[in-house]
Amino acid sequence: MSVALIKLGGSVITDKSRYRSFNRESSDRLAREIASSGKQVILVHGAGSFGHVLASEYQLQKGYLDDSQRMGVAKVQRDVRDLNREVMLSLDRAGMPSTSIPPGACALMESGKLRRLETDLFHRYLELGITPVTFGDVVLDSQRRFGICSGDQLMHLLAREFRPELVVFCADVDGIFTADPNLDKGAKLIQEVDRSTLESIPRTSRVTDVTGSIYGKLESMLDIAELGKGTMVINGLVPGRLASALRGEKVKGSLVVGGRG
Ligand code: IPE
Repeated sequence: MSVALIKLGGSVITDKSRYRSFNRESSDRLAREIASSGKQVILVHGAGSFGHVLASEYQLQKGYLDDSQRMGVAKVQRDVRDLNREVMLSLDRAGMPSTSIPPGACALMESGKLRRLETDLFHRYLELGITPVTFGDVVLDSQRRFGICSGDQLMHLLAREFRPELVVFCADVDGIFTADPNLDKGAKLIQEVDRSTLESIPRTSRVTDVTGSIYGKLESMLDIAELGKGTMVINGLVPGRLASALRGEKVKGSLVVGGRG
């Protein structure tokens, strides 16, 4: 049975500007939309304000600089596990059997790139009919001692391993835009995104985000799209959109295509 790989962006399940604020309403609704799809799913979620705020304060994305960061590693791991527990509870309420697989305990990075993940665990839980759920986390790094592993890096590795029939990124906007839609009224939704789009997007970031702006995220998405499967970015804050994407319907959003289109 083929798998759908879904990422719930941190901005959809948390308020990114307020430290540790969980958006239970969105999380519960998205869990219901996933559960009612009847699809076999691997779920990844971002960290939002449970990760980015402290991670950037302690500069964890740079790897080990000094011992004072150790408390930061511990706190961020604690916080993202708290968020993960909230998401798991949403899945429980939706009646979807799921298991949490924290990358901090089963992954390894090398110079900031995710190199290894215990994918065997994901296979075995899927076989059991239990949805594996993983998330952006602080992970050990063979060169830098530790680093931030984003949900997007996890999506890429999981897409390589499972070759999902569908890859969906749920964002807090309708898709990829020509400019930041929250700042620029003239920003236009790009319905089909390819590598040439990347060159047209400014390399700036609006919020403090230790895993990069939309630019970095788009790079991961293009790498995934190059694996040849349908990859899309949709608005996870709009009720029903994920559900219809999972039904294979045409929904408002950006389709990410490999190559230059
Ligand atoms: C970030 O993961 C992980 C940490 C800061 C610990 P993501 O980069 O996937 O999170 P979002 O989706 O941007 O919030």
